[in-house]
Amino acid sequence: MELPFAESWRIKMVEPIRKSTRAEREKWIKDAHYNVFQLPAEQVYIDCLTDSGTGAMSDRQWAAMMLGDESYAGARSFFKMRDAVERITGFKYVIPTHQGRAAENVLFSALVREGDHVPGNSHFDTTKGHIESRRAMAVDCTIDEAKDTQLEHPFKGNVDLAKLEAELAAHADRIPFIIVTVTNNTAGGQPVSMENLRGVRALADKYGKRVILDSARFAENAYFIKMRESGYADKTIKEISREMFSYADGMTMSAKKDAIVNMGGFIATRHEEWYEAAKCFCIPFEGYLTYGGMNGRDMEALAVGLDENTEFDNLDTRIRQVQYLAARLDEYGIPYQRPAGGHAIFIDASKVLTNVPKEEFPAQTLTVELYLEGGIRGCEIGYILADRDPVTRQNRFGGLDLLRLAIPRRTYTNNHMDVIAAALKNVYDRRDEITRGVRITWEAELMRHFTVQLERL
Ligand code: F0G
Repeated sequence: MELPFAESWRIKMVEPIRKSTRAEREKWIKDAHYNVFQLPAEQVYIDCLTDSGTGAMSDRQWAAMMLGDESYAGARSFFKMRDAVERITGFKYVIPTHQGRAAENVLFSALVREGDHVPGNSHFDTTKGHIESRRAMAVDCTIDEAKDTQLEHPFKGNVDLAKLEAELAAHADRIPFIIVTVTNNTAGGQPVSMENLRGVRALADKYGKRVILDSARFAENAYFIKMRESGYADKTIKEISREMFSYADGMTMSAKKDAIVNMGGFIATRHEEWYEAAKCFCIPFEGYLTYGGMNGRDMEALAVGLDENTEFDNLDTRIRQVQYLAARLDEYGIPYQRPAGGHAIFIDASKVLTNVPKEEFPAQTLTVELYLEGGIRGCEIGYILADRDPVTRQNRFGGLDLLRLAIPRRTYTNNHMDVIAAALKNVYDRRDEITRGVRITWEAELMRHFTVQLERL
């Protein structure tokens, strides 16, 4: 008999987590104004708020932390991290930052000007924020297939090359670079194919533009290329990653995802003049060039994490766990963005809570219901997150309304996935009885989802 699949690691340290009663959760979520960001983490049983900085480091990473060189300038740990980044990406110039958005802030300070257009595939919120706060425009050129959650497509994160070319042709003089997010988080953790990256490079060359990869989950993207794209089955994740980066001029990285550290990030590029321009912003915003907001010990852990998480077995364990959860949801008929993403499952709330009007925020309502049912914390990626239109101040109901269940790396077992699926099934089974959602009682002007206060209707 063929041996079944199992994790490529074993557990050396555990952290107790506590279950709660429904009555406790009713009180806690009310105290949190029906906003899961406001819940103390101890009131959560299984936390799928994010996969960012929530992974479990390996024994090798923890061991490396003891070697941290905390020198202010020229720390040995910086050179170790720089060499690891160059080995994996081919980029020679590396600037550490405290996390991904800080890398965006430093690099975009050097590159983005008022009136610019920055085309890409569903820019992440902070990426978009760092473009728009400079009075520039983030132009979304994702393929239309990404909008249909029930459509199966192997590379739903792809850039629509026709949309990109139209943008390049119309605004070539105002485009500082193209940014491709791998994997495409906003579209559901969906990968971008190598063919698509090659196509973006060709268009960039045609118009004399540069390309940046927002690389938070580049290793998961490489895994999907290996599994789904012809010609890559026999290549290693490291070979595929190197090829992906060969089509780019530089990258921003939130190391809290695919480098499996709790905090950290960096900018890397092959162009000395980009490095020279960015370094002037690193010093005032982040810190001196050889630590940029990171401890020496964290740079050590980052170097090891990058190396480990560009090995097939680690990624195979990780992504198969997300797919395991997806298979449970398939059994129960619960609709989500198909196929399952690399780091998360995105439940299509508008197809589950069909009786809740959009004005009452179905995905947020589902997020609250799932918490009440099982103490499970997901997060709304929908109409609340979309904020109001800056001009009309109307809610933006144009996009998808999803509940994201992000799975931390090496943290939970498949038993936890079973609990999540069962809790969702229980909510799904009584979906017809859920006819009312939530109402906003207080909100911030920008990025309201973190602090919004709601009441149940
Ligand atoms: N780019 C992508 C694609 C991301 O998903 C994130 C963060 C960032 C940039 C910013 O990095 O958090 O280190 O500053 N995503 C997290 C999430 C927060 O939950 O999806 P950061």
